[in-house]
Amino acid sequence: MAGTGLVDLSGQVALVTGAGRGQGRSHALALAGAGADVAVLDVCRDLDVPAYPLATRADLDAVAAEVRACGRRALPLVADVRDPASVEAAVAAVESTLGRLDVLVNNAAVVTSAPFWELSEQQWGAVVDTNLSGVWRTTKAASALLRRSPRGRVVHIGSTGGVRAVPEFAHYVAAKHGVVGLTRAMAIELAADGVTVNAILPGAVDSPMLAGLADELGLTPDDVHKRWLHDQLLMQVITPDEVTGALMWLLSDSARHVTGHCLAVDGGALAR
Ligand SMILES: NC(=O)c1ccc[n+]([C@@H]2O[C@H](COP(=O)([O-])OP(=O)(O)OC[C@H]3O[C@@H](n4cnc5c(N)ncnc54)[C@H](O)[C@@H]3O)[C@@H](O)[C@H]2O)c1
Repeated sequence: MAGTGLVDLSGQVALVTGAGRGQGRSHALALAGAGADVAVLDVCRDLDVPAYPLATRADLDAVAAEVRACGRRALPLVADVRDPASVEAAVAAVESTLGRLDVLVNNAAVVTSAPFWELSEQQWGAVVDTNLSGVWRTTKAASALLRRSPRGRVVHIGSTGGVRAVPEFAHYVAAKHGVVGLTRAMAIELAADGVTVNAILPGAVDSPMLAGLADELGLTPDDVHKRWLHDQLLMQVITPDEVTGALMWLLSDSARHVTGHCLAVDGGALAR
């Protein structure tokens, strides 16, 4: 499993949002492989936005079973990061069931694509509320537990769209720029409690999100390559496991002085 040799999380508890599949699943399994008990949170139903299907309850239960197969405790949580009550209940369940929280990975997000003048209020609202406000909301709800941890770690999964713009993703770009700002602001405010806050900015990652968006836009794999991979210097789609490797480094003792940082895993796209 990616990066598990880097870090020993025995006795610690992690919470991963959007953990039913894709990158979130990969992160949850690596955390379990490194010795953590893992709460896996996902909305587990399709929404009006995006048009592509989201993870299911069966997906989430399968991830929880894989965490248990690593010999760790798993807590599947069906919750919506857009809903404060749902997020607060999920964090309360982490405390009552697993007893503490040391690592929070804010990974849940959705995407749609259109010129900004064609975006509906619903598309704008869904993307900003999930991808930006959801990160604030979940970290807020988890902050008391994280501040109590002897080595609290928060990692937001952003995007290269958090530091540059790409056409036809204005709402996603605005939300992910906001995640970069939150990373810095939260790092400052949590430093006194020894909690680090960092972000990973992936390029194009092979996941159901990328496939769902391509399908929605009627793109072929070749189109996807031309549209989203052409500016990655290494010209290859990134695997979830490769993003997980960066996460595990950020959770390792080697990164204990790294906070407020945004780490791109983007095949060099931001070098342009
Ligand atoms: N796939 C890419 O090319 C790519 C590129 C850059 C950044 N990212 C980012 O990586 C992260 C993971 O994305 P992925 O590629 O694994 O996509 P994905 O669609 O496979 O996974 C996202 C997960 O979030 C869940 N989710 C969506 N809305 C939710 C809500 N309101 N509450 C709780 N859970 C919700 C979904 O059910 C799904 O399981 C996201 O933050 C995404 O923006 C992805």
